[in-house]
Amino acid sequence: MDSGKRILEVRSLRKHFPIQRGFFQKTVGQVKAVDDIHLHIDEGETFGLVGESGCGKSTLGRAILRAIEPSSGSVRFKNRSGGIVEVTELDPKELRALRKDMQLVFQDPYSSLNPRMTVLNIVGEPLLCNQIAKGDQLRERVKQLMEMVGLDSRHLERYPHAFSGGQRQRIGIARALATEPRFLVCDEAVSALDVSVQAQILNLLKELQERFKLSYLFISHDLGVIRHISDRVGVMYVGKLVETAHTEALFTRPMHPYTEVLMAAKPIPDPRKKKRKAVLPGEIANPAKPPEGCYFHPRCPYAAPVCSEKAPPWTEVEEGHYAACHFAGQLDLQGAGAS
Ligand SMILES: Nc1ncnc2c1ncn2[C@@H]1O[C@H](COP(=O)(O)OP(=O)(O)OP(=O)(O)O)[C@@H](O)[C@H]1O
Ligand code: SF4
Ligand SMILES: [Mg+2]
Repeated sequence: MDSGKRILEVRSLRKHFPIQRGFFQKTVGQVKAVDDIHLHIDEGETFGLVGESGCGKSTLGRAILRAIEPSSGSVRFKNRSGGIVEVTELDPKELRALRKDMQLVFQDPYSSLNPRMTVLNIVGEPLLCNQIAKGDQLRERVKQLMEMVGLDSRHLERYPHAFSGGQRQRIGIARALATEPRFLVCDEAVSALDVSVQAQILNLLKELQERFKLSYLFISHDLGVIRHISDRVGVMYVGKLVETAHTEALFTRPMHPYTEVLMAAKPIPDPRKKKRKAVLPGEIANPAKPPEGCYFHPRCPYAAPVCSEKAPPWTEVEEGHYAACHFAGQLDLQGAGAS
């Protein structure tokens, strides 16, 4: 890792799932769910990851945390003492120790919390497991965590069903923060919530980020949410990043046709603007059998012969703005307008 402010650097990360068939479970192919991803996240930064369902967002988030084993590649992480560790090479004991620093906030606050555990046990479990606190000390720490996420600390003996969706997501966040992590993967963390509650949880995540200098990999299929929370954004298509840029640059001057199509298909709600028509043509490519050349070419309105023959290079079109398109920077693509 070259920069002092960098907390995470991912290089050539791949996660391929074998496709097995028949009685002997013979491997007949690979689902390239994450395929040669490069990205970095700075301390205190939110990197938003967006793309259609099945493009590999969750697999990427989990492979970074080694919640699933990556097939190959490198994940370098700056731990709390400032040392750089290669996450992919840690043994189980070292990985357990690092987990205190890297946590996952789940998508669904209804199914991710054990209904038979009280808030005290849910939020306190990581403290007990990591031998950070027990007894009265644990109780005090859970109370503090509840207050930190805007929950009434008198309710620590209650069960998840006694809370609303937004409150449950706060419990999930309190649990994720229990070990004082420095990096959170938030996978569709607000997708199951009503819009007004989404805004409250996003604001809470922002406040916590400032207070504790947290870094986020924020995964969402919702461009409005991604724009609201992210400092930089990566757009994924069939296991690959096709564009990354600072948020406003990406939204106002997209450089990859897929980003343009995604924005046109899912307009950001803005009462001042007319909705543009949804024009997401064709189906997302099969990650087990992607097309030759640029994976997006069967759906791309700008495709030329070269696109079905050669994979486009990853190009820095403007400072910090990268795209994988043969015509990056040459097309007059429509953004979503200034925020
Ligand atoms: N355990 C697994 N075994 C085989 N294939 C898998 C497994 N997990 C994910 N996949 C495949 O990997 C691809 C990426 O899935 P992933 O869940 O990462 O997508 P996603 O972008 O998070 O989608 P969504 O927006 O629906 O959550 C999909 O084709 C999926 O079917
Ligand atoms: S490389 Fe070709 S097919 Fe792919 S996004 Fe660019 S113009 Fe479209
Ligand atoms: Mg997912």
